[in-house]
Amino acid sequence: MKTTVVYFTRTGTTETLAKELAQYLRCDLIKMTDDGKWTGFFGFFRAGRYAVSGKRTNISLSKDISEYDRIVLLTPIWVANLTPAALSFLDKYGTDKKIIVVGTSVSTMDDEVKKNLQKKGINVENLFVLAKKYYEDYKDKLFFMISNLL
Ligand SMILES: Cc1cc2nc3c(=O)[nH]c(=O)nc-3n(C[C@H](O)[C@H](O)[C@H](O)COP(=O)(O)O)c2cc1C
Repeated sequence: MKTTVVYFTRTGTTETLAKELAQYLRCDLIKMTDDGKWTGFFGFFRAGRYAVSGKRTNISLSKDISEYDRIVLLTPIWVANLTPAALSFLDKYGTDKKIIVVGTSVSTMDDEVKKNLQKKGINVENLFVLAKKYYEDYKDKLFFMISNLL
């Protein structure tokens, strides 16, 4: 059984958390990118539109993940939804691998994201959202919970 942290980021918040989590779990860290154009003013709105409509993108990983069977997938939350990259990752690997999803947000919490996923017919068994305002209080607990789930 091998574990890795996989993350997608637009502005670096999720990357910072992913690095800390990989260090805590003593596991590898893999960066996911996609072919979406998310930068700038128009990119911001495109990101929101794609996330709300549940669009997928073409994803690339910095390392082959075939050797890993347990994955902690970190993604920003966009309009109370997972990113297109995260949905694409779940489509591709969700049936073969155990995946725990961790979202980073400013204030949106797990329940709202879960509701939106359900509306899209997507079932994610383990989903946590770390909102910026609870970051310091909740981060250690979250890392501990994740290590127990793996
Ligand atoms: C298009 C877009 C939509 C967002 N929607 C939400 C939201 O619904 N709720 C929230 O709390 N934060 C929202 N955010 C803020 C991000 O989730 C938050 O800043 C996240 O930690 C950014 O991660 P990153 O720096 O790794 O890209 C949104 C950001 C973007 C770009």
